[in-house]
Amino acid sequence: MCRSKDPTSPTTIDTEPVDRLELELSSPAATRALGGRLAALLRKSDLIALEGELGAGKTELARAVIRARAGVPLEVPSPTFTLVQRYELPDLVLTHADLYRLGGPAELDELGLEEALEEGALLVEWPERAGDRLPADRLTIRLALPDPSRPEHRVVRIEAGPAWRERLVELARWTTEPP
Ligand SMILES: Nc1ncnc2c1ncn2[C@@H]1O[C@H](COP(=O)(O)OP(=O)(O)O)[C@@H](O)[C@H]1O
Ligand SMILES: [Mg+2]
Repeated sequence: MCRSKDPTSPTTIDTEPVDRLELELSSPAATRALGGRLAALLRKSDLIALEGELGAGKTELARAVIRARAGVPLEVPSPTFTLVQRYELPDLVLTHADLYRLGGPAELDELGLEEALEEGALLVEWPERAGDRLPADRLTIRLALPDPSRPEHRVVRIEAGPAWRERLVELARWTTEPP
């Protein structure tokens, strides 16, 4: 959100789409609900970057997005070893990548992620491993476990690039008015 630094300037009514959102998820079911919402917002050429430590819930969330968009409980294995899994859904080709085991940014070319973005949408775990080789205009979702005594609790920080800002407003509305 962009606010004026000059305190004497007129107050702007905040019509700017938001670019950040912080959520708390109390259980895997809450994570799946978020995935369902993201699935409904997802379009061709979208990149969702999933960040967070091992076990943070990146795959859980990606699986929920893919299944919700498919409308059926597809088998969605973690792409830890294959690095890339492609899902040809009726209205969108979804590619799910996990770059944890990527040797280096040079190996990226072989994965065909650019093509994946041309033909559909891309969900990437460990996007940091790609350096700056993935588009900057993305939805970044960072999952964290802030409290070891609550193992199902996650804090989620979402940052939206320009392509996602209007949709982040919809997501924010949904989170304040749970279904
Ligand atoms: N709120 C939650 N959201 C997502 N996963 C959760 C949550 N609570 C517990 N979990 C568990 O945490 C683990 C997350 O694993 P995974 O999604 O494979 O992590 P990552 O892909 O980030 O390494 C799963 O075993 C899942 O059941
Ligand atoms: Mg994973």
